[in-house]
Amino acid sequence: MNFSDSEIVASIMTEKNYKPVKEAAQADIIFINTCSIRDNAEQKVLNRLKQLQSLRKQNPNLVLGVLGCMAERLKTFLLEEQQTGFRVDMVVGPDAYRDLPQLLLDVESGQKAINVILSAEETYADITPVRYASNGVSAFISIMRGCENFCTYCVVPYTRGKERSRNPQSILKEARELSERGFKEITLLGQNVNSYNFTEESAVKTWNFPVLVEAVAAINPLLRVRFATSHPKDMSDELLYVIARNDNVCNAIHLPVQSGSNSVLKKMNRKYTREDYLERIAAIRRMIPGAAITTDVIAGFCGETEEDHKKTLNLMEQVGFDFAFMFKYSERPGTPAAKKFDDDVPEPVKSQRLQEIIELQNRLSLKSNREDVEKIFEVLVEGKSRKSDKKVSGRNSQNKMVVFPDKGYQPGDYVNVKIMDCTSATLKGEAAD
Ligand code: 5AD
Ligand code: SF4
Repeated sequence: MNFSDSEIVASIMTEKNYKPVKEAAQADIIFINTCSIRDNAEQKVLNRLKQLQSLRKQNPNLVLGVLGCMAERLKTFLLEEQQTGFRVDMVVGPDAYRDLPQLLLDVESGQKAINVILSAEETYADITPVRYASNGVSAFISIMRGCENFCTYCVVPYTRGKERSRNPQSILKEARELSERGFKEITLLGQNVNSYNFTEESAVKTWNFPVLVEAVAAINPLLRVRFATSHPKDMSDELLYVIARNDNVCNAIHLPVQSGSNSVLKKMNRKYTREDYLERIAAIRRMIPGAAITTDVIAGFCGETEEDHKKTLNLMEQVGFDFAFMFKYSERPGTPAAKKFDDDVPEPVKSQRLQEIIELQNRLSLKSNREDVEKIFEVLVEGKSRKSDKKVSGRNSQNKMVVFPDKGYQPGDYVNVKIMDCTSATLKGEAAD
């Protein structure tokens, strides 16, 4: 989401004739687009801000701006040099990027500038993102902003504000333009894409997420469509049918479970039970055989017992996730969990549980990849493999990374690849045609 937002910022700046540079040391303005989801994400940014101060020596007019969720969460605190130990000139929340040029003028006139007003409408629908760090093959399209699910651990509803869906016509236009420019893969982005909902002014048509996905898929059969992230409570059969009947809608579903214990899920305000989740998994397996299912897991949420933790391990095993993002619970100030519950799982226990979760997932990923050996997949080439320039890498529909010998392929080529070997992270193969 931040990657996508930075492309919107780049567009707003480019409109005003600012030019991107490759290195921070060459810049007159540095924006850091920040994340508040866990404390370690924030610590990284604070360290970076400290380090960047040294650039002020060679460029006394350097403007340093903090953008995104940390700007929204910490507001004027970031401007208080005495407290932070570093100087920041601008603080701009995720809904205020159109104001950047004006805020820069304020900074030039010697003031510090801040805009952290959240909006109920802003979707940046009319702004064409500048794909400045793109591989020319895959692109993100933001289809909605904000979240109102209020999972008790999560800071997003406070930093990104109310949920709002972007006009589908502007989404389709952006997707069409990307396809015409040669992009082959689009990821529709939102905090909770399944609750996408837009009623056209004429009120004749209401767009939900499955309708939108199918319309994007219809643009070009060679354009792959992905999406993230889905909330299990709104994962409809209608969407599963759309995935099943459109070859170019990828067979990969990211469905964050967070915990396998009903009491923890309830305390997290996730609005589904373990049984509900497993029922959705069964529906996916039934309707989209061969789909990859990935997830997010939090270890050591408030009050989590050893028994709760075992239930998470057990659910992971039962589903057999292909991949997972795994985190230790990190208390976020101002969230319902921080206000109501004790962060009472001791740090060493959290670490131990996370370690067990990671070890299990590594085994599950390896098992899932081993089952792919001998199979043939259509792979979209992204570029040279990181380890060898005699090989290229790309992804299959399941979003697994596949590495295979280069026979002069270009980024954006589709190649049928037979899988010969694997690790827990990568499939290794050879072109099958
Ligand atoms: N602590 C740890 N992980 C968190 N996530 C969200 N908030 C927290 C938190 N306070 C994780 C969830 C979510 C992913 C994006 O980040 O697993 O799905
Ligand atoms: Fe956070 Fe829950 Fe919204 Fe995801 S659905 S962004 S975890 S509040």
